Amino acid sequence: MKITVVGTGYVGLVTGACFADTGLDVTCMDIDEFRIDDLKIGILPIYEPGLEELVERNLEKNRLRFTTDIESALTDCEVVFIAVGTPADDDGNSDLHHILNAARDVGKYMQNYMVVVTKATVPVGTAYKVKDVIREELDKRGSGLEFDIASNPEFLKAGAAVMDFLKPDRIVIGIECGKTEAIMRRLYKPFLLNAHPIIFMDITSAEMTKYAANAILATKISFINEIANLCEKVGADINLVRKGIGTDPRIGFDFIYPGIGFGGSCFPRDVRALIHTGDEYDYPMEVLRGVDTVNIRQRSVLFTKVSNYFGDRIKGRNVAIWGLSFKPGTNDMHEAPSIELIDSLLAAGCNIKVYDPKAMNDARQLFGDRITYANEHYEALIDSDCLLIVTEWQEFRFPNFIVMTKLMKNKVIFDGRNIFDPVELEQLGFDYHCLGIRNDNIYVPVKKKVKVHE
Ligand SMILES: NC(=O)c1ccc[n+]([C@@H]2O[C@H](COP(=O)([O-])OP(=O)(O)OC[C@H]3O[C@@H](n4cnc5c(N)ncnc54)[C@H](O)[C@@H]3O)[C@@H](O)[C@H]2O)c1
Repeated sequence: MKITVVGTGYVGLVTGACFADTGLDVTCMDIDEFRIDDLKIGILPIYEPGLEELVERNLEKNRLRFTTDIESALTDCEVVFIAVGTPADDDGNSDLHHILNAARDVGKYMQNYMVVVTKATVPVGTAYKVKDVIREELDKRGSGLEFDIASNPEFLKAGAAVMDFLKPDRIVIGIECGKTEAIMRRLYKPFLLNAHPIIFMDITSAEMTKYAANAILATKISFINEIANLCEKVGADINLVRKGIGTDPRIGFDFIYPGIGFGGSCFPRDVRALIHTGDEYDYPMEVLRGVDTVNIRQRSVLFTKVSNYFGDRIKGRNVAIWGLSFKPGTNDMHEAPSIELIDSLLAAGCNIKVYDPKAMNDARQLFGDRITYANEHYEALIDSDCLLIVTEWQEFRFPNFIVMTKLMKNKVIFDGRNIFDPVELEQLGFDYHCLGIRNDNIYVPVKKKVKVHE
């Protein structure tokens, strides 16, 4: 079976590489020549655990091919996935011009029956627009070629994308006929072992499923952030409240960790796109409006703490930052809370030194020489007045606090991810500020004998 993936970004590359690994003949096509030239020699545009090895292995076996030529990419193809970007336009709606361009190219160059699958995250109704555009192009050619459409939203998580693709929680596919169902079931068979479910539904429901999934996760994040902020005001401890509610299986522990707001290329955009869809149908999405508002507010929480702490002595402070990407496991800085935070600190006259295990090049492109870049996390601390934890990378969780004490000018930490134990940090003499717990109100369990890690 030969398949083609149009758009070789995060989703397209993972999709192509994972399908190639099952033995399929996969062509990944993109209009970005530099990207394709790099990929041909195994240079990836993104960091994603396990992806480089997967691409290398399948390039070597000639199962994975990269091209900018759509015509050759579509030759003998049975299934074409459209995985191009769908950025938000100025109104918060999805900009569909990439996807409709890709559909137009498919219509222009297809030579045989194929299933055209929308894998990009697109507003309800887009797959039918794709169908219309392809039919239009075929009509222009005077071609009566048959094709079917499908909607197969992608649920992979940045930082775990390969594993999510290989072992999916579920595969959702919107279809219009039994023929498409049979083709898609066969294609995904290697990923369905161990009872991973494949759920077929109509196309509109499949498109809505993707937005509903991201919207509920974003809602959980904004909800817990709001509760954390209130905990701080009333003198409760969010870490205890989280334990208290998470044990209820209807609530669960996932996505109820306080932080400095969600970012990335999906959650913020998808929440706004769903609000926009609601508006189009004259149905205001009140919960999601709140989710978006709370998230925007949350991004300034860490800066407010720093600003309140230093007051009018903030200018000229040396601020160390650990973590820049919007979450661990990825170099992605789309709408990362670190961006607004750094802009605010710079505006306040701070000197900033940053370290992130994967996002340094991305940060250089964003901030240039306005900030300083450290080679490793301890280096960022030299002469710092405070440390800000922005992304909860594993390697930050158990630092050597004694070394930190010697490097930092002031033992002050603002933790935007609550990764340290407030009691332990207090014992070590740090002025530790985290989220959802007031410094004057740290709960010490009666029997707890605190162990100090060095
Ligand atoms: N990144 C994620 O974690 C994630 C997860 C699930 C779903 N999605 C969705 O998947 C889609 C793709 O996202 P992404 O992050 O992979 O995007 P991306 O920006 O990383 O990649 C998109 C690629 O499409 C290419 N492209 C644009 N127009 C093209 C055309 N006409 N023909 C061929 N190539 C073209 C671009 O050059 C780029 O390389 C989006 O709708 C996104 O919302 C993303």
